[in-house]
Amino acid sequence: MTISFDEIYERRNTNSLKWDKFKERYRAKYAVEDIDNVLPMWVADMDFAVPQVAIDAIKERLNHPIFGYSYISDACKEAIQKWFKRRHNWHINKEALIFHSGVVPAIATILETFTEPGDKVCISTPVYPPFFTIPKGLKLEVVECDLVESEEHIYEYDFEKLEEAFKSGVKAYVLCSPHNPGGVVWSKDTLEKLVQLCVQYDVLLISDEIHADIVFDEYKHIPTMTVEGADKAKIIACIAPTKTFNLAGLHAAMIVAENVKLRNALLRNKAAHGLDDWNALAAAGVQAVYEKGDEWLDEMIQYVAKNIQYLEQELNQLDGIRVIRPQASYLVWVDYRGTGLSEEEMMDRLLNKGKLALEPGTKYSEAGRGFLRINLACPFETVKDGVERFKKALS
Ligand SMILES: Cc1ncc(COP(=O)(O)O)c(C=O)c1O
Repeated sequence: MTISFDEIYERRNTNSLKWDKFKERYRAKYAVEDIDNVLPMWVADMDFAVPQVAIDAIKERLNHPIFGYSYISDACKEAIQKWFKRRHNWHINKEALIFHSGVVPAIATILETFTEPGDKVCISTPVYPPFFTIPKGLKLEVVECDLVESEEHIYEYDFEKLEEAFKSGVKAYVLCSPHNPGGVVWSKDTLEKLVQLCVQYDVLLISDEIHADIVFDEYKHIPTMTVEGADKAKIIACIAPTKTFNLAGLHAAMIVAENVKLRNALLRNKAAHGLDDWNALAAAGVQAVYEKGDEWLDEMIQYVAKNIQYLEQELNQLDGIRVIRPQASYLVWVDYRGTGLSEEEMMDRLLNKGKLALEPGTKYSEAGRGFLRINLACPFETVKDGVERFKKALS
């Protein structure tokens, strides 16, 4: 390994959501006695330094002392295009890229463009919370369709249930691919069925692929737009370098809209809100990671895979605990239904006895009850500390 992911950076007092703001967030919801000594392993950013190439590119941009209006260069678009071709065998036309400040606001823009208040939007739960909070904020009706667990405790689609939901007149479906939480890499078969159902019921398919780059073992992310039948569907994808390279604070994401009619409608809405493309520093950093970030990413994936292995080995020894090994992403879904503890009891034990802040499962809808989400994009020492705290909480 040439890059050290072992290094521990002090992130307290850096305006970090994960390390500073979490105190307010958790205190608002739970009675926490000693929040200053709680270890945060919750929100999805990494405790790893970003690739040096991003820092160098941003520094270089800083050497020019003027930060006037800027635009996204053709070289940056080409870097994005080449990355997705190289890593995912997905050809994206440069004209299809629409730049946005994040995947969540991009989903909001897409829903706002193609739905009217009162329309139905379907999601598969448990899922990343903005999948329901954004549509609700736009006065859309959210149709939750629970995923089911396979014998190996991996989430799967129940297509009969999904079709029932689509029959009730759903306008849009928001897909999380790979899925968060649970880290499922959807198979070609699943994606093809999904696309086919969207075509059959004329449902707009919004494909959030933010976790696409972090995939383990033999799994391979398949971009929704590349599956058979995708050319007949109304698909808009959302992609970003922010989970991949720990750049969430730069605020950079892309919408991929190959369909010209859909693209033009999105661009009109973006203009109506006066939304601009990325800022100059984000553009510099993003271009650099897409051009030269492969090695960092490959090594990061290997490092996190070892963290996951360790967590699995340690926590699976505890009564009533089952670690669901993710196929993608550094967020691990832990099933504690076997302990018989309620979510309130579990969170109280974690925060006050173990001094560990994890994400409670119901944050991802009622279907997440009995689960916790733990973030393993951190140095191994932090994982060991987290595991000890988890054990203490349950002792
Ligand atoms: C599925 C999914 N989509 C979007 C986001 C956040 O996207 P952004 O920060 O670009 O708004 C996350 C963050 O964890 C996520 O898990």
